[in-house]
Parts: sequence; structure tokens; C-alpha cells
Amino acid sequence: MARFSILENVSLILLINLVIITTTTTTVLTNEIITTYQSCSAFHASMEISNDLDYDNSTLTLASTDYGLKIHEKPLAVLEPTSITEISELIKVSNSLCTPFTIAARGQAHSVYGQAMAREGIVVNMTHLNGYRHGKGVVIFRDEKDPWNSYADVGGEQVWDDVLNAALEYGLTPLSFTDSLGTSVGGTLVNAGIGAQVFKFGPQIANVYELDVITGKGDLKTCSAEKNSKLFYGVLGGLGQFGIITRARIALGPADFSAYSKDQEYLISLNGRNDNAFDAVEGFLMINQWPNIIDFFPTQDLPRINSLLAQHNILYVLELAKYYDDSTQDQIDQDVERLVMGLKYVPTFKYEKDLLYQNFLHRSESAAAGQGLPGGPKSWLDTFVPGSRISDVNEGVFKNIIFKQNLSANGIILIFPMNRTKWNDKMSVAIPDEEVFYLVSVLQAVTYDTLKIFDDQKNQILKFYKDSGIGIKQYLPRNKTHEEWIEHFGSKWQKFEEAKNKFDPKRILAPGQGIFQLNNKICML
Ligand SMILES: Cc1cc2nc3c(=O)[nH]c(=O)nc-3n(C[C@H](O)[C@H](O)[C@H](O)COP(=O)(O)OP(=O)(O)OC[C@H]3O[C@@H](n4cnc5c(N)ncnc54)[C@H](O)[C@@H]3O)c2cc1C
Ligand SMILES: *[C@@H]1O[C@H](CO)[C@@H](O)[C@H](O)[C@H]1NC(C)=O
Ligand SMILES: *[C@@H]1O[C@H](CO)[C@@H](O)[C@H](O)[C@H]1NC(C)=O
Ligand SMILES: *[C@@H]1O[C@H](CO)[C@@H](O)[C@H](O)[C@H]1NC(C)=O
Ligand SMILES: *[C@@H]1O[C@H](CO)[C@@H](O)[C@H](O)[C@H]1NC(C)=O
Ligand SMILES: *[C@@H]1O[C@H](CO)[C@@H](O)[C@H](O)[C@H]1NC(C)=O
Repeated sequence: MARFSILENVSLILLINLVIITTTTTTVLTNEIITTYQSCSAFHASMEISNDLDYDNSTLTLASTDYGLKIHEKPLAVLEPTSITEISELIKVSNSLCTPFTIAARGQAHSVYGQAMAREGIVVNMTHLNGYRHGKGVVIFRDEKDPWNSYADVGGEQVWDDVLNAALEYGLTPLSFTDSLGTSVGGTLVNAGIGAQVFKFGPQIANVYELDVITGKGDLKTCSAEKNSKLFYGVLGGLGQFGIITRARIALGPADFSAYSKDQEYLISLNGRNDNAFDAVEGFLMINQWPNIIDFFPTQDLPRINSLLAQHNILYVLELAKYYDDSTQDQIDQDVERLVMGLKYVPTFKYEKDLLYQNFLHRSESAAAGQGLPGGPKSWLDTFVPGSRISDVNEGVFKNIIFKQNLSANGIILIFPMNRTKWNDKMSVAIPDEEVFYLVSVLQAVTYDTLKIFDDQKNQILKFYKDSGIGIKQYLPRNKTHEEWIEHFGSKWQKFEEAKNKFDPKRILAPGQGIFQLNNKICML
């Protein structure tokens, strides 16, 4: 198995009328409200509210349950709002009563101590606003000039996971996360939202530009550090005491290339023979003008993939495989789900295929054959890049040379990391000093007419490596001067030369590598 790897109110009526004109079912609730709370002033509330109050026992039971399973406070009803106005009206209704009822916004109820409950009051099921948003609960604004100025306008009811996924589709990400992405934006912003990134970006409440809040008086206000700043700072970390957050403008930053390389490095860190891990980890790039290995992807998805590519210029593809047999077939899907969990690929861009083991191993040749390769001369460059410098390669080689030059090419760019501990340093092969290093291969089949252009590009890449001191090693090295060979083998050169003297003193073997010259001095003695 190979798996490759974002209303307005209609009618206004008196609350007291609500009892009279509503169905028998709502009468129970409203009777209760009326008997519990007496109307002081004649406030007009819309029909909408009474229609959207749910007092089913099962709903009330749910609303009196949270993650902690310790506290159970039963509300009179749950409001399932179909608009923001409705929440504001509900609050105004309560304000209009001699004895107001309490109101609690309920996000994802990840509280453990009844914080989102309202005994004898009304719980507002914020999740219901999803219907009102029409799929626009998260709207991303990407600043092309400076991605650090990007932001997301997010409904207070939205779940962080959805914010993340939407942002990633634009190559962006929120800056600070809690350990659970299943919480709502409103729910964490009334606390702080702390996690692994606080040390760098501060808590989630420090990454908010603006809020829409319905205050305890029922007024909808927009606030920020500049505008209504008391409300703004009060609400952030204010435990829901001052208002209900209906929109938050969340700071976003670039979701950089390191998300990809970190995922790859994570995947190869699971490398024990008995680890439950992927059995194969590779990666490749999709760039404009490169005929990619698209035969893997479903044809109907190609437009979607191409539009993502047009948007981002370069796509980084993870290629993973998990082997299975009859005995493990039942759990393969679960295993794969678990293994890809937490990887930061663009959601919904995961494709899977079941292949015979041999066909998987032959996938590259099959793809090459599909592209009409391997005819024509080749312009290939394979390099080992120290793990710590891989993002420099992304900038300097992928973006600044290959993407910019936009040469139409027939081939592939491979990139994947390896762990040095699986290599033996006694062996001759030259590899970088770091524990993790990447193979970066730019492989093209060209024509005799274009060969020079492509080889020039390779030489520019090599020059970039040299100038930036990245300390790469060539894999399948060639075309080097004597000094360059010495540099290539580095500390291994001496042993390499000694071995040559010992095992092939006349330098007869493999002259095509261009390392040693045939030794005919011995004859001349
Ligand atoms: C498994 C797990 C891991 C967690 N990890 C972390 C962590 O790493 N870091 C961290 O900081 N926290 C963490 N938490 C705590 C969590 O962030 C808070 O409990 C948060 O309030 C949960 O959000 P929620 O949407 O479920 O809120 P709810 O439980 O639904 O509500 C919490 C409070 O917020 C109010 N509220 C909800 N929505 C709004 C809104 N839109 N406007 C105003 N008030 C609102 C509610 O009335 C209630 O008072 C974790 C919780 C769990 C269960
Ligand atoms: C409501 O549901 C709870 C939990 O299922 C149950 O204990 C209770 O008896 C029910 N109440 C009514 C009035 O049906
Ligand atoms: C809130 O609404 C969502 C979406 O309709 C639903 O899945 C959830 O069960 C509701 N929660 C409560 C407490 O009613
Ligand atoms: C490399 O592999 C070794 C042996 O499995 C392991 O201990 C080490 O953590 C790995 N290094 C990285 C950076 O993954
Ligand atoms: C790359 O070149 C092709 C034509 O050769 C052109 O259609 C395309 O717009 C170019 N892309 C960029 C980013 O310059
Ligand atoms: C070999 O390397 C030199 C520079 O060191 C370069 O000018 C030349 O083009 C290279 N030849 C080939 C075939 O790549």
C-alpha cells in the first residue's frame, strides 16, 4: 500500500406574546420563563428565538455535561442560534426581565468544571452558528508582501483545527496553539490559550487583532487595542464575563517549509525495525512546468491540485508507504490514520492507493515510462544536504533558481531526509557530518539542444552551495578536479587513496569516475 502524502429577525413581538402564540411545546419553556422571571419592560423579541430554543431532555442533558463529567447543571433551554442578532436579542430579553435569566455560551465544552453551563438559564450552542456562516466561518487574508501581516477572521464558535486547516491552504498558520485543537476560538480566548508556542509568540490572546463581542447588555461591539479597548482587553482572558465573542481576527504567519521538512524528519525518526512506522518515506516537489508524477492522483482531482500549485508555485509532496499483508489488513487503515496524525499536510490533499509490493518498488520506473522517458540525454544532480541547511536549499535552489528560471523540464525533484546512524562511517561514501541529512536530486531528461541550459542550471546550483557554505556532498559525484575530489572525501580521502594504492595500484579500475589517472609510471621505471 502506498499512501501519498483548510438573518435578520423577521417579526417582532412582545415576549409575553411569545407564550400565547407559540406551540404547546414552547409554551412549557416560556411558561417556565414567565413564572420564573417576570417581565419588567415590554421588550420586543423575534419569533426566531422561540423557534430556536431547544428544551428536549436529551439536549438539556447534553448541555449539562462537559469534558470533566463532574458538574451537571441543567439549563431551562438551549438556544440554537441561526444568527448573531438572535444571541443579542436573547441577552436583551433577559435584561428586560425583573429577574433576568443567566446565559452561557457553549463552545466545545472542553471545560472540566461546568464553566459553559447555566443552571435554570439558557445555554447558547455556539456551534449552531456554522449554519449561519454558510461555510465562511474562517476567512483568510493573506498579505503577499509580508505574510506576517496576514490574519483570519474567524467565528467565535469555530474550532481551532478548522482555523489551522483553512490557513494552511494559503500557506499560513496561526502562531500559538493549545494542546487540543478541538476547542473553540471563543472558548480559549476567554482563558488564554497556552501551549508549545507561547515562549515565542505569547498565548493565543496575544495574537488577536480585533473582536466582535455581544456584551452583557446585548450590544454588538467591534473592539481592538485602538477601538473600545477596555472591552477588548477585558474580554481576552475575561472568562466570558463581559461578552460573547462572535468574531475574532487572529494573527497568522507563514507556514514555512520547515513544516514539511519537520514532518519528514519526524517520520524517519521512527526507524527501528520493530517500530510501528511507515515502511517507506520519500518526498518530491511539484513545480510549474514540471510534468509531475501525477498518474498517482485521481484525474478528477488534477484541477484542484493544479490550482493549489498555481497559488503556491511549489508544492511539497510526501510519499509514504505502509506495507501490509493478510494478517495486518484489518488494521492498516487505522495504522495509517494514526501515523499521519499531526502531519501538517494541506488537509484533503491526501491520496491513497493499494499496490502490490513489487509494483510499489517499481513505481518510479513506471512513471518514467509513462512520461516517455528515458529517451534523451540527462541532466542530473544528486546532493546530500546537511539537515540544518535544508530550508536554505528551499530558498536558494528551489525558489530562486529552479522556480525563477522556469525551464520546461521532464523529470523530478526528489527530497527526503536520512539518518546517519543507519550508515557506517567506515564506508567510503562521502556524506555530511550531521545526524540528519537530505537527498536533494534534480533529475531531468532533456534534448541535445537544451542540455547546456540545464547543465548550466546545475552548475549554478553547485555555485550556490559553494557560496553559501552549505557543506553538501555530491552523491554520484563527477567532473571534479583533483583538489575537489580531496575536498569531496574530506577526512576519508587519505584512507581512500591508501586503499587505491593497495588494491588497484595501477589505477586500472573505473576510470570514468575521473578520480585517478592510469598509472603508467611503474612501467617507465
Ligand atoms: C484535552 C484538553 C486539552 C487542553 N489543552 C489546553 C492547552 O494546552 N492549553 C490551554 O490553554 N487550554 C487547554 N485546555 C483547556 C481549554 O482550552 C479550555 O477549557 C477552553 O475553554 C475550551 O474551549 P471550549 O470551546 O471547549 O470552551 P467551553 O468549555 O465550551 O467554554 C469555556 C468557557 O468559555 C465561554 N465561552 C465559550 N465560547 C465563548 C464565546 N464565543 N465567547 C465568550 N465566551 C465563550 C463559556 O461560556 C465558558 O465559560 C484543554 C482542554 C482539554 C479538554
Ligand atoms: C432526562 O434525561 C436524563 C438523562 O438521560 C434522565 O436521567 C432524566 O430522567 C430525563 N428526564 C426526563 C424528564 O425525561
Ligand atoms: C450543539 O450543536 C451541534 C451542531 O448542531 C450539535 O452537534 C451539538 O450536539 C449541540 N450541543 C448541544 C449541547 O446541544
Ligand atoms: C536516528 O536514528 C537513531 C537510531 O534509531 C535514533 O536514536 C535517533 O534519534 C535518530 N535521530 C533522529 C534525529 O531522528
Ligand atoms: C513559465 O513559463 C511558461 C511558458 O514557458 C509560462 O506560461 C508561465 O507563465 C511561466 N511561469 C512563470 C511563473 O513565470
Ligand atoms: C565540469 O565542471 C566545470 C566547472 O568546474 C564546468 O565549467 C563544466 O561545464 C562541467 N562539465 C560538465 C559536463 O558538467
